[in-house]
Amino acid sequence: PDGARVPVLIVGSGYGGSVAALRLAQAGVDVHLVEMGMAWDTPGSDGKIFCNTREPDYRSYWLRTRTKAPLNYFLGFPIDRDIPRHTGVLDAEEFAGITVYQGRGVGGGSLVNGGMAVTPRRENFPAILPSVNAGEMYDVYYPRANAGLGVGTIDPAWFEGTDCYQYARVGRKHAQRSGFPFVFVPDVYDWDYMEQEAAGTVTKSALAGEILYGNNHGKKSLQKTYLARAKATGRVAVSPLHRVTTVAPASGGGYRVVIEQLDTTGAVTATKSVTADRVFFAAGSVGTSKLLVKLKATGALPNLNGEIGKGWGDNGNVMCGRANHLWDPTGSLQSAIPCCGIDNWAAGGAFAEVAPLPTGIETFASFYLSITNNPNRAQFTWNAAAGKAELSWQTAWKQPSIDMAKSIFDKINSKEGTIYRTDLFGVYKVWGDHLTYHPLGGAVLNKATDNYGRLTAYPGLYVIDGALIPGNTSVNPFVTITALAERNIEKIIATDL
Ligand code: FDA
Repeated sequence: PDGARVPVLIVGSGYGGSVAALRLAQAGVDVHLVEMGMAWDTPGSDGKIFCNTREPDYRSYWLRTRTKAPLNYFLGFPIDRDIPRHTGVLDAEEFAGITVYQGRGVGGGSLVNGGMAVTPRRENFPAILPSVNAGEMYDVYYPRANAGLGVGTIDPAWFEGTDCYQYARVGRKHAQRSGFPFVFVPDVYDWDYMEQEAAGTVTKSALAGEILYGNNHGKKSLQKTYLARAKATGRVAVSPLHRVTTVAPASGGGYRVVIEQLDTTGAVTATKSVTADRVFFAAGSVGTSKLLVKLKATGALPNLNGEIGKGWGDNGNVMCGRANHLWDPTGSLQSAIPCCGIDNWAAGGAFAEVAPLPTGIETFASFYLSITNNPNRAQFTWNAAAGKAELSWQTAWKQPSIDMAKSIFDKINSKEGTIYRTDLFGVYKVWGDHLTYHPLGGAVLNKATDNYGRLTAYPGLYVIDGALIPGNTSVNPFVTITALAERNIEKIIATDL
């Protein structure tokens, strides 16, 4: 409520925010979790909470009047459609050189992501988080994160026989014939549930194209894991459709947090102010970075250091499709949950997930999202005249990612006698180089913060999300975000509270 005083306020309910909420509540601290997206706990008139990728409706996008599908063309035709403006679950946030996809709602990115739960290879860890003790991470915090998230792996025997992973088996065959290491990738999807979907005994979710705009069953989003446990403590209050706009020192100690309440059209219906002894920034790499550069530049938190906004990367994301021969169909039924990848990180700087194209028809296409070792880093700055944060990323900075992805797919194409698809991202456009699903950095650990996420100029302010990670995790990022949050909150609870 307006004017309240709380011990801890957390901005954002994704991985970082959910870990902080659970561990603080377990330590006996009352927590107020503020989330600008919706609660996503109430079905629409069709009985479903989320819509699927084939029929995007008002629930699909955050405050857009037209969809902005990551794969925006099919057979050379644009597939985006008009939708009512609504506080939908997927934000396609446009900066000058890149569109950054993010989840909006209680659960953050866990509502919209593929659930691929990948722990980086240990030899890659020093480059991911150079100031963090790798032994502790691999002995304690990665296992804790994997357990808390409910990570599991597909039954290999079921994988071999099910129609819905025909596309993945084709991906494996092509990878192996070109000599690339093929790996199964763990996921937070309930694999038993998926087997029942395939058997026709439960309502379909992954097998009904549910992914980008939410899963109605099967996927263990944070709502079902960390946040469920956090709420069960009785110490966590959650305010959906509330957006934090300002954090500044309060005259009587602590921090004054200004919060706008939104309706489902995105209009501000009330402005509230709360005083918090401690504030955790967990608005995601983009959300936290945008807030912090604004607060530094506008004088709310002028003593934030000069690293704020820096070190932002796209995890090297780049997409492409390959056109298979007619004897290599990828299947009309495709599970929306990816389960495998091609690991050419050491030799070529690319880890490619074999991704679904759950269109419901046979496409003879293999589709891949590559994570690459792109060295480019961008910076958020505050544009006072425009009143908004900007990101310096340029589209041309994806070229190293394209080159690294080609280290895999040029070879496969030449071995198989196949070509790239040119109809998925435009007309005669091979590379999906305009976007990322994996924003990382902007308030980098041990630079913008101390080695545990403290914004040391302001005791009681912390960063605890993907903004801490300097731009690349070599694999999909949320397990690392979760594990780092587990490490940092343990230290903060032990020493600061
Ligand atoms: P996260 O973005 O999860 O949460 C931040 C929350 O803060 C959001 O809910 C946001 O609405 C809220 N917020 C922002 N500003 C606010 C403000 N001012 N006030 C209040 N609330 C605010 N990763 C992976 O490991 N495996 C995968 O398979 C995938 N797949 C994937 C697919 C797609 C389509 C996307 C978009 C992303 C993925 N990811 C992924 C990435 C993964 O989802 C992402 O890295 C994490 O969600 C980031 O976690 P954070 O805690 O940093 O922020």
